[in-house]
Amino acid sequence: MPQTAQSHRVLPESACRPPCDPGLVRFRTLTPISVTPPFLAAFQLWRRPLSLPTDTHIYGDGMRLYRANPADGIVWITGASTGIGRALALHLARQGYTVAATARAEDNLGSITRESVEMKGRIFTFPCDVTNETGMERTVIAIEKTLGPIVLAVFNAGAYLPVRGDRLETTNFLRSYQINVFGTLNGLVPVADRMRDRGYGQIAVMGSVTAFFGMPSAAAYGSTKAALNNMLEGLRFDLEKMNIRAQIINPGFVATPLTEKTSFRMPALLTVDQASRRIAAGLRRGGYEITFPRRLVWPLKFLRLFPKPIVFFVLNRLTGWNKRPVGPRKTRR
Ligand SMILES: NC(=O)c1ccc[n+]([C@@H]2O[C@H](COP(=O)([O-])OP(=O)(O)OC[C@H]3O[C@@H](n4cnc5c(N)ncnc54)[C@H](OP(=O)(O)O)[C@@H]3O)[C@@H](O)[C@H]2O)c1
Repeated sequence: MPQTAQSHRVLPESACRPPCDPGLVRFRTLTPISVTPPFLAAFQLWRRPLSLPTDTHIYGDGMRLYRANPADGIVWITGASTGIGRALALHLARQGYTVAATARAEDNLGSITRESVEMKGRIFTFPCDVTNETGMERTVIAIEKTLGPIVLAVFNAGAYLPVRGDRLETTNFLRSYQINVFGTLNGLVPVADRMRDRGYGQIAVMGSVTAFFGMPSAAAYGSTKAALNNMLEGLRFDLEKMNIRAQIINPGFVATPLTEKTSFRMPALLTVDQASRRIAAGLRRGGYEITFPRRLVWPLKFLRLFPKPIVFFVLNRLTGWNKRPVGPRKTRR
């Protein structure tokens, strides 16, 4: 019997290639959720909830989207003088990366350089204020000239400046946007430009779970993190076409100098070492969103599905904010 034309159709080479990304392989080997008992499906999702593959894994004509490794070049981390950035710089240096560390406090930066001396990789410092646009471009040029190409950039520098609805003023909003949003963009623009020219790169931007909803005292901070989440989602469509892997990091609460300023209860608080280990693992895995700890993130993501009155009620109870009196009026200038 003559075979139909369709049965002889030759697939393009790229379609015949086996999936090369481990994330994709993992997905395909999971039992389809529709034919799995509900408890097993829930278990599968729980085991690998955040590395379900997305279209990030394959770009262009079936090539694998770039993922950094120490042999290819340098990691640049902003906000590396204290807290999460510092711990991540040390963690990646232990894994063999050469790290370029940026922040303003030169003393703190000097001390991580000394700590890295015995490590497999090394940390070099490039002090700069992230709000200085030309300074940041000059920093990128200096890093690439002295150390080599930046293959992974982690835009971590950030500040939490509390604001209250009963003492409204613009100062802390302006400063928060300058550091968190424009500070990120001042680094991202020159780095993405160079990665585009080279044809590969990996970029990670530091968000926060406070991006998920407005939270008490975090109207400035949380809205900058929501802006970063939205901004990177929008840019990711084009970055991927240029073989630049984009990732957002949305951690829960981590004990650092930044959280010392918060005046509400912080559930599931992590240490900087726990946080930096999870971030490093997420950068290696390559999924779009790196968010943890699950015991905080899952309930928060679930809460987002509810109508706003329920969300406000739960957040008021969780933070105890409804019990606080309205503060004194600020003195008018
Ligand atoms: N801690 C948490 O619970 C938590 C949770 C989610 C997300 N995050 C985010 O994680 C990032 C790191 O925060 P952290 O908790 O580790 O706080 P941190 O210890 O206060 O670190 C903030 C870092 O940003 C740097 N920085 C601030 N302003 C800067 C500027 N204008 N120019 C250059 N560097 C600047 C600081 O260095 P210098 O002061 O020396 O410049 C410091 O290295 C932030 O983006 C934060 O929003 C933190």
